[in-house]
Amino acid sequence: MTSGGSFYITTPIYYPSDVPHIGHGYTTVAVDTLARWHRQAGDDTWMLTGTDEHGQKMMRAAAANGVSPQEWVDKLVTEEWFPLLETLDVANDDFIRTTQERHEESVKAFIQAIYDRGHIYAGEYEALYCVGCEEFKPESEIVAGTGEFEGLKVCAIHSKPLELLHEKNYFFKLSDFSDRLLALYRDQPDFVQPESARNEVVAFVQQGLKDLSISRSAFDWGIPVPWDESHVIYVWVDALLNYATAIGYGEDEKSFDRRWPGYHVVGKDILRFHAVIWPAMLMAAGLDVPRGVFAHGWLLVGGEKMSKSKATGIAPKMLVDTFGSDAYRFYFLSAIAFGHDGSFSWEDLSARYHAELANGFGNLASRTVAMTAKYFDGVVPEPGQYADVDLAIQKTIADATTNADAAIERFRIDEAISSIWTIVDALNGYITETAPWVIAKDDAQRERLATVLYTCLEGLRALAVLLSPVMPASTEKLWEALGAAEALGELPQQPVRDAGTWGQLPSGTPVAKLAPLFPRIEED
Ligand code: ME8
Ligand code: MG
Repeated sequence: MTSGGSFYITTPIYYPSDVPHIGHGYTTVAVDTLARWHRQAGDDTWMLTGTDEHGQKMMRAAAANGVSPQEWVDKLVTEEWFPLLETLDVANDDFIRTTQERHEESVKAFIQAIYDRGHIYAGEYEALYCVGCEEFKPESEIVAGTGEFEGLKVCAIHSKPLELLHEKNYFFKLSDFSDRLLALYRDQPDFVQPESARNEVVAFVQQGLKDLSISRSAFDWGIPVPWDESHVIYVWVDALLNYATAIGYGEDEKSFDRRWPGYHVVGKDILRFHAVIWPAMLMAAGLDVPRGVFAHGWLLVGGEKMSKSKATGIAPKMLVDTFGSDAYRFYFLSAIAFGHDGSFSWEDLSARYHAELANGFGNLASRTVAMTAKYFDGVVPEPGQYADVDLAIQKTIADATTNADAAIERFRIDEAISSIWTIVDALNGYITETAPWVIAKDDAQRERLATVLYTCLEGLRALAVLLSPVMPASTEKLWEALGAAEALGELPQQPVRDAGTWGQLPSGTPVAKLAPLFPRIEED
């Protein structure tokens, strides 16, 4: 990708019926890292996240707590969902709430537009509904209940009984779009990623699509259907439209044209909504489909999908309070192949924190900065003639930069991090091999010592730039210690795709003390 192009990326908008757990945090830090990378590369980047505040699930959560739905979402969003972004150090450009007027008005305009274009009709409907999913379930996701739900039909995702609903609804002619959707998946093979997700979507659409019920009349917590106010718009149609309304659809055409189309990163639980229904809605309105939809896997706890409704939820803050936000981001983004399921455990988090962050990256930074203080009075030395070992490091850094950027283009944050980690490993090996503390004893090797330390410092410079999108807090501390802020400017302004260009940190730059980036954590 050439710098300067538009890069608009979104998280799902989460249900604030309850508090966030580490699954929500996972998607959010992944999207934030992708956005930070592109922003740092000079792309015209915009990151959106937000909350999905209408529907039956929300009404019930509010009722169970004895307040109105608006009071409930206001409380949860303010007390839990905004603070999540601070906790995880997320630099979103916007936060949309579906109860905002900017959203509600533009949703009405969109629905009216596709109604006027003849894609909506009135009909009767009877089907099994899952309030957890806010969806009429297809046969393939209806299973027999067990335990307390023995004899009932339950949702395969939530394991909770389905409700039989019979209503007069408005329908979207989704079935009209099967062929165009199949052509889209064929002509743009990376429209749905990864491959496994794409195959699932193609197989689903090949079976033929049913029209979609897009209104509800049994309750009123939603956006009224403009031509029939006795109905509210189905919560998923309302929710999907956030991606368009937040950037100005129906309100600010210039902004919409600048950002759209964008990329959506979602959990695989909501893939079909994003890869089937949403592009069909856009086609119906005569708008561009998204650039792509990436579905990541599930965080599993004790072998089950982590979820609040099954009480396996773990609050992100619990992890961050112990390990810090950078470790949270690094752990989930590096330990799980993006697109696959991954198991969370405290033991694994702690083991990786100590091995990779404390002993690997943190110790490399501490040693290098300490040796610079000891041997060169805390000033970046002037390198002499480079030997093969030094040139090998330069090549490792250049290759890691290219490979990481290519991995980010494929949304494989985990692969980008492992490419970058080749630098950490190579530099730790380099220090062992060159043994600066031995060279330091020999005055005749002063220039060699300078070359070795310059190589380590310049390697850290590159690591700070490349890891800044993943770990913004610790890389900022490193950047300050290296004196790079003074010499090269702010870290988030460093062009990430040029991180591999050798020799950016000027000799003579004063290097400050550095407290351990990832202090060891005592077990209790
Ligand atoms: O579905 N592992 O909201 P939601 C990984 N409002 N990611 C997980 C996860 C897990 N165990 N649990 C949740 C909704 N997530 C709708 C979305 S978008 C127009 C509307 C993440 O609060 C993952 O991103 O149920 C998943 O898709 C999302 O949270 C679902 O959040
Ligand atoms: Mg959910």
